Amino acid sequence: MNAREHKKTIPWYQNGVLYQIYPLSFSDSNGDGYGDINGIIDHLDYLSGGEEALGVNAIWLSPMYRSPMKDFGYDISDFRDIDPIFGTLADFDLLVSEIHKRGMKVLMDFVPNHTSDQHPWFQESLESKASAKRDWYIWANPKADGSEPNNWLSRFGGSAWTYDDASDQYYLHTFLSSQPDLNWRNSDVRAEMAAILRFWLGRGVDGYRTDSIYVLIKDAQLRDDPINPDYVEGINDPADRFLQQHSAGQTELLSVLDDICDIVAVDDDSFLVSEAYLGIEEMKPLYRACQRHPIHAPFNFNLMSLPWGANSFGDWIDQYESSLGAQNVPNYVLGNHDRPRLASRVGLERARLLSLLQMTLRGLPVIYYGDELGLQNAVIRPEEAQDPWGIAVAGFDRDIARGPMPWSGETHNGFSTSIPWLKSKSVDGRMTVEGENRSPESTLSLYRQLIHLKTTLPSLHYGSYRSIETGNKDIYAFIREYHLNRCVIIINFSEFETIVSSKEEMIGRLLSSTHAVDGSDNHVPIKDLNMSGYEARIYEIKVKI
Ligand code: GLC
Repeated sequence: MNAREHKKTIPWYQNGVLYQIYPLSFSDSNGDGYGDINGIIDHLDYLSGGEEALGVNAIWLSPMYRSPMKDFGYDISDFRDIDPIFGTLADFDLLVSEIHKRGMKVLMDFVPNHTSDQHPWFQESLESKASAKRDWYIWANPKADGSEPNNWLSRFGGSAWTYDDASDQYYLHTFLSSQPDLNWRNSDVRAEMAAILRFWLGRGVDGYRTDSIYVLIKDAQLRDDPINPDYVEGINDPADRFLQQHSAGQTELLSVLDDICDIVAVDDDSFLVSEAYLGIEEMKPLYRACQRHPIHAPFNFNLMSLPWGANSFGDWIDQYESSLGAQNVPNYVLGNHDRPRLASRVGLERARLLSLLQMTLRGLPVIYYGDELGLQNAVIRPEEAQDPWGIAVAGFDRDIARGPMPWSGETHNGFSTSIPWLKSKSVDGRMTVEGENRSPESTLSLYRQLIHLKTTLPSLHYGSYRSIETGNKDIYAFIREYHLNRCVIIINFSEFETIVSSKEEMIGRLLSSTHAVDGSDNHVPIKDLNMSGYEARIYEIKVKI
């Protein structure tokens, strides 16, 4: 059975490819400098269905709800509408149908932790202590000396509490003061959020990426967070001065997630993935939270922060793999709108190596728009900074990850006919979609080839995973296997050339390499391979019957 024949029986997220679009920066169709829905529609063929399509299976759209854009869409003032910057609800419906027409799935961003301070619920909550919406948010009295109710910190700098003169109380905000936290212990809040989830499911979305899930439930007694003994002033994020023991990570979260899964699980392709920066042990309960509908996975961000090296990556992936239950799907994220660009963090060569790793592991790789081009951090003059976190806390600039998608060598890289909302320097025409399409050696061509292999080759699509020994400390190698189809993936984490032999006897045909290699069609013994620095290869192995 080949991969395509088998497709129907396995939900897409177990072995597909998810692509994140940051709508403000993807494509501007009406020339106002902001990316919009029609701009996304114009480029869907690039993602799937078109002649030179990347071949991804699903799209996650960062928020497009109505918003004052203080946190660029993560501050929502109406959960049931599309912001006019992006278009209309009718445009959104068309987008969903165009995505589905191309055989892709679509995940919306669900932002349950907070609203905008402009949201009518918060405005009503502000009216008085007796307001019907007062308890929809988290309000608390000052301490006797008038100071904040506890020591919780905002992730974006300063206290997580803001004082309201009129009522002599503080409200909680884990992020900006213009993003007040909702009170998930209030049953009306839960019912309303459930209705909102159903609203968009009814419009055809296939699931959600849930924002900031780990902070959703806080300690009911509002106890102080303990001091973080590892915190180093001037080096660590100031928000990490305390361990988020009480301001986040409460076990009640698991039952909330279970309820969300019940709502989202409308058919076999429904999927829920949550944003939480966690290690293997902390990911385990989140994986198991949804009991009746095991459709949930926490994003795995660990490959973005592991120390570089074959053992570091190999051991971590082995442990992650063995921590998963049979129903759980591994996923691998290399970049997103909150972290510097992959190619700038690790360099282009290592970025290409990681893309081959990401596409050949089991489960769901997640591509952040533009990373498939090897796009570098956007270059923005300090006076043009937009990101509220970057402006408040030095060293945490997220604008650099949000540069306009470079489609071509035309003005503004074909993103818009006018100056983009984020005034970054245009990139070299060779590093654009148009430029990279022309070059078989480009990072875009590599991604396209890898995605094709992942979605068509049975071993890469359905196969089991097992790491193998090569006796070379710089090499991480593993086998993917499905019935008679077997692949070996060999990765040189060192910057230097090295000779590699597998301890198991194997004969294979080279399918892909991050580097130009001769003789791809011949079967060769996987022995004394001469691999370049940072080279990664995929061989299809001849299986003896
Ligand atoms: C998540 C989003 C980030 C946003 C924050 C507050 O971490 O990824 O972009 O600023 O939540 O909503």
